[in-house]
Amino acid sequence: MPGEPITETKLFLAALKGEVTARPPFWLMRQAGRYLPEYREVRKKTRTFLEFCYSPDLAVEVTLQPLRRYGMDAAILFSDILVIPDALGQKVEFHEGRGPILEPIRSTKEMSVLSQDRLHDHMAPVYETVRRLSSAIPDGTALIGFAGAPWTVATYMVEGHGSKDYVATRSWAYRDPQGFGQLIDLLVEATGSYLEAQIRHGAEAVQIFDSWAGVLSESQFHRWVIEPTAKLVRRLKAAHPKVPVIGFPRGAGILYEAYVRETGVDGVSLDSTVPVAWARDVLQKHCTVQGNLDNLALVAGGDAMEGEIRHILATLGSGPFIFNLGHGILPETPPEHVARLAEMIRG
Ligand code: CP3
Repeated sequence: MPGEPITETKLFLAALKGEVTARPPFWLMRQAGRYLPEYREVRKKTRTFLEFCYSPDLAVEVTLQPLRRYGMDAAILFSDILVIPDALGQKVEFHEGRGPILEPIRSTKEMSVLSQDRLHDHMAPVYETVRRLSSAIPDGTALIGFAGAPWTVATYMVEGHGSKDYVATRSWAYRDPQGFGQLIDLLVEATGSYLEAQIRHGAEAVQIFDSWAGVLSESQFHRWVIEPTAKLVRRLKAAHPKVPVIGFPRGAGILYEAYVRETGVDGVSLDSTVPVAWARDVLQKHCTVQGNLDNLALVAGGDAMEGEIRHILATLGSGPFIFNLGHGILPETPPEHVARLAEMIRG
């Protein structure tokens, strides 16, 4: 067809189309971040973390930093999942050492502060960052856009901070599924619109981070993780059928299988607790798998890390596969361990 490449030259996108690539492409969740001295240097330039996310010059620079050192096969837009509640009008702040703090929303009445009217105006700097990145990244490197999944973003909006068990959110969802469903529907709509705009500005794939998918019972997982994600994927596919979508239902255990079958994602990101042989046998026939080195093995380095990397490559490398971590890079990670990882993947 005119204008269409005959083969996909970006390894990362080839893997998401289901190709078994000559070597696996790799990138790392939170590849831009505090473990890099050059990130910490740029981070000093704004007072708040959100200002940093909304500064295209700075966001472009820190997105490119890990590529310069390690040559990942994909760059991920530098931003955060909590720009969505911020754009919708909820008060969101990041406190040094304490993580995000939001003014909690615990009922449909309290949802009245939220509005989608200014979504795209608010996100203009993020779209500008994507636009600049799409021409600034090296040839052969793909650009990933992202957003939080409705469930995970809702947990921060309802609790008002990070939590281990998400009691307020899970209780609201059981007590008043209709009301809580309105919050989830609003997030499906805003997130769909936001991801479509990232794609229009140059994102070549998108990842949906559902970091807290693993705290739900089976019925609640279907209702608050699978259903909203499936809606989001249908919407993105209707507008941009060729742009691959990766889902990351962290902690989903054997529910990863239902997630993959029922959401329509092209790729699934595995947390470190997923046995790779199980992922090969059960998931890899449905979609591309991504993962899943333990982020603490990367902190440890040495033989422990190298053994884990070899095991993942040997088990998943003969099917469609993207190498990654099972969760984001930790700030205490020695940069030289990341260099060793990159060297091993390139073989
Ligand atoms: O991966 C990348 O390199 C792109 C950037 C990115 C960030 N956050 C930057 C960030 C991405 C993809 C995220 C996603 C994100 N943010 C998730 C989903 C993935 C996951 O880790 O589970 C979640 C739950 C958040 C919410 C969030 N943002 C928390 C809980 C925190 C505080 C914890 C911490 O590490 O400080 C953040 C802050 C944040 N987001 C930082 C970075 C680099 C650190 C803040 C700083 O540098 O001052």
